[in-house]
Amino acid sequence: MKQRSFVMLKPDAVKRRLAGEVLGRFENRGLKILAAKLLVITPELAKEHYGEHSERPFFKDLVEYITSGPVLATVIEGEECISLIRKMVGATNPQEADLGTIRGDYAIDTGRNIIHASDSETSAAREIALFFEDSEIYDYSMPD
Ligand code: CMP
Repeated sequence: MKQRSFVMLKPDAVKRRLAGEVLGRFENRGLKILAAKLLVITPELAKEHYGEHSERPFFKDLVEYITSGPVLATVIEGEECISLIRKMVGATNPQEADLGTIRGDYAIDTGRNIIHASDSETSAAREIALFFEDSEIYDYSMPD
């Protein structure tokens, strides 16, 4: 089944000039970029996006970090792509992420772990709606 995921390259990825390389992995895999936007997240949007973590001890640091510079927010589409992208991203703690995954190859710190990707269809729908208007998401045909 075709799915859409919300994938965000975090400020460390943008500052380290890894955005193209990481997005390229998804393109090379055959996934489709439907939307992409560079923006600095407001604290309000950060708190809403990460609402489920609001009681966690790292919440304040997480909000500070994610608002510390531009992120590249994207919508990516493909067959069963939510779990596929999570697999390509690797474990939240980069120390535990397998080599060959994005976090396993580019990060060493849980608090600076390069990328966010939706963990379910419900979160994907919620996160996409938080960051994008429908008119900013483009559907187009790709060669087989
Ligand atoms: P992400 O996949 O964006 O979703 C929640 C984020 O919280 C996670 O990536 C990490 O960046 C962050 N996070 C999770 N656990 C910790 C932790 N123990 N310390 C700091 N940040 C964390």
